[in-house]
Amino acid sequence: MSKPFVFVSRVPPPRGMELIEEFCTVKAMRDDRFITRQEMLEGVVGVEGILCHPPDKVDKEVLDIAGKSLKSVSTMSVGLEHIDLTECKARGISVGYTPGVLTDATAETTVSLLLATSRRLKEAFSAVVDGGWGTWENGLYLCGKTLLESTVGIVGLGRIGLAVAKRLQPFGVQKFLYSGNTKKEWASEINAEFVSFERLLGESDFVIACCSMNKDNMGLFNKSAFSKMKNNAIFINTSRGVLVNQEDLYDALKLGTILAAGLDVTSPEPLPREHPLHTLKNCVITPHIGSATVYARNAMAELAAKNLIAGLKGKRLPSPVPQ
Ligand code: DGY
Repeated sequence: MSKPFVFVSRVPPPRGMELIEEFCTVKAMRDDRFITRQEMLEGVVGVEGILCHPPDKVDKEVLDIAGKSLKSVSTMSVGLEHIDLTECKARGISVGYTPGVLTDATAETTVSLLLATSRRLKEAFSAVVDGGWGTWENGLYLCGKTLLESTVGIVGLGRIGLAVAKRLQPFGVQKFLYSGNTKKEWASEINAEFVSFERLLGESDFVIACCSMNKDNMGLFNKSAFSKMKNNAIFINTSRGVLVNQEDLYDALKLGTILAAGLDVTSPEPLPREHPLHTLKNCVITPHIGSATVYARNAMAELAAKNLIAGLKGKRLPSPVPQ
């Protein structure tokens, strides 16, 4: 019996790729770069399955080109903004994703960014190599902001938000606030108080965006939001770059409306080298490495492969997208 033909838009770590190659005939993008739209359109012609990753769009045009043979779409991500779920559902195409297995890694990245930002590590690293290694300066040389007795506001207390809060708790955080929907038992695990978005902005020392992106929260963190935050607040985003109006963030950081920002996500990605945010010492940017531990990436690859294969077999997916 011939193996199902699948397109892989970005090769996953071996644990996932081996599973896929065992069961499928694979056409894969093996270069270490983002796939172009043209390559995506050419790659999916007549396939039964697609393994993808944001930002590789699986939209109506891609689904049309893949044609009626397409049964299974699997993304190696928790984010789903690149997939037209409505079209997939209408065509009876199963869609799998990889929540859960990347929660801990992404929470670690969020905490790392928060500490790097609050303890001014960007300036500290530069000082060491650029000859700026200072002394005492009245005891305030490279002093930063502490989590001790702080209020942390989490926008989107989902799996990742909760995992972040649990890791921050031992640093002596006094209070957790959150906005958006969550499960009551998750909020009570960290004794978090539900407040309006405005109140969260006004009362938090650290504002952390952990929400998933949707059409209503694009540009949520804009001039108006930053103006409601404390002057010494730190903003962290490990969700999606489009949640932030980056021009407004630049102004807020430059003018001292807020103290600092740590971003693992930007819009676009990569953020061009000449982008003004790079010029700010109070803005730490990492290249979307939220889930980048070997453990998490292998687990994501395995789950994505299993989702893809289950969809091809017409079986229940280990991790289907809720429809
Ligand atoms: C995800 O899983 O959505 C991560 O952001 C990687 O894209």
